[in-house]
Amino acid sequence: MSTLLTGIGELTTNDPELGTVRDAAVVWEDEQVGWVGPAAAAPEADERVDVGGRAALPGWVDSHTHLVFDGDRTSEFAARMAGQPYSAGGIATTVTATRSATDERLAANLRALVAEAMRGGTTCLETKTGYGLTVSDETRSARIAAEVVDEVTFLGAHLVPAERSAESYVESVCGEMLDAVRTNVSWVDVFCETGAFDESQAARVLRAGQRHGLGTRVHGNQLGYGPGVQLAVRSGAASVDHCTYLSDGDVDALAGSDTVATLLPACDLSTKQPLAPARRLLDSGAAVALASNANPGSSYTTSMDFCVATAVLQMGMSVTEAVWAATVGGARALRRHDVGVVRPGARADIQVLSAPSATHLAYRVGVPLARRVWRAGREAVTVS
Ligand code: NIG
Repeated sequence: MSTLLTGIGELTTNDPELGTVRDAAVVWEDEQVGWVGPAAAAPEADERVDVGGRAALPGWVDSHTHLVFDGDRTSEFAARMAGQPYSAGGIATTVTATRSATDERLAANLRALVAEAMRGGTTCLETKTGYGLTVSDETRSARIAAEVVDEVTFLGAHLVPAERSAESYVESVCGEMLDAVRTNVSWVDVFCETGAFDESQAARVLRAGQRHGLGTRVHGNQLGYGPGVQLAVRSGAASVDHCTYLSDGDVDALAGSDTVATLLPACDLSTKQPLAPARRLLDSGAAVALASNANPGSSYTTSMDFCVATAVLQMGMSVTEAVWAATVGGARALRRHDVGVVRPGARADIQVLSAPSATHLAYRVGVPLARRVWRAGREAVTVS
C-alpha cells in the first residue's frame, strides 16, 4: 500500500540535501518513505491525501520519559509551587504505588500516555523502568514497556530503595537485575546526583550495562553541578539528560564528544530550576536534544510542542534548532537514523500541523498543533 501526502505548504525534512521544501509531497510504501520533493513532480500512489497548504515535519522523537508507573504526586507538586524544593526522594512515592499496581493497570496507564503523546505528534518514544527497584518489579516494568514503546531503558539505578543499603543495591543492579531485564531493554541509565548515586556507583552501573551489551545514558547535572556529564562523556554514553547546571568544562567535554545533551525544559520549569543553558551548548557545537521527561514527579507532560515552544521563547533556540533537537536530536540520543527525518528510507513518521509553518509551534504557544500523525506509514491521529 502506497500513500501520497501532497499539498504540504512547508515540509521540514531535516535532511541536509533536501532541506525545507515548499509546495511539497511525500510518498511512502507501507512503513517506509520512498520519495520526497515538489508536489508538482510527485509520482502516483494507491492513496492520495491533500493537506491543503499546511506544514508537515517528522514526528517528534521523545528520547526521555518514565511512563511505567502508578500513582499521583499532585500534593508534592503543590508543595513545590508553595516553595518546597524538588528532591530525588519523591521517586519513592511512585515506587510504592507502582509496586502495588497490577500488570494490567501499569500497561493501561502506559498505553494511555503513549496515545496522548502520539496525539501531540510524538511518533518515536523511549521509556524507562525505575519505579520498581526490585528484580521482579524492574523485570515486569521492562516487559510491559517493551510491548508498547520503541526504546526501553533499564533505570534500576534511579534511587536506592529504603529497604536496601546502597552497596548491596548497586551490586544487585549490576548483576541479577541486569541479567533479568536484559532481553527487554536496549539501554542502561543511572541517576548520578546527590541523593541518588555517586560517581563511582554510577560508573559501576554503566560498565555493567556495557558488559551486558547495552547502550548507556546518564541522568546528570539536574539539581546542581556534578560529575554526571563528565562521566557520561568518558564512558561514551549516547546521551546525558537534564544538563541544567553545566560548568565550562562540561560544555567543552560535550562539544568534543558524541554524547548528546538532552534538555528537559518542562522538568526544569516544574521543579523550579533554571532552564538548561541551550545557547551555550549550541554555540559550543554540542549536539542538543529536547525531550519531555514525562513522569509523575518532576515533569507530568507528554507535550513536545510545549518543550519546543519553551526552547524558542525562553532558552534562546531558533525554531529550526528546537525542531531539530526534538526530532533528529532525540534520534541521535537514541542512536537511530530511521526517525526524526523525512527522506527516502526513513520510517514514515510524519505530523501535519494545523498551521502553515513550523514557526507556529512557538508563535501559537500552548495550542496543540498536531492535526494528522502517521507512524510507520499508518495514520495514528486525525483531528477534525
Ligand atoms: O528525570 N531525575 C530522575 N528521574 C526523574 C524524576 C522522577 C520522579 O521524580 O519521579 C527525572 O526528573
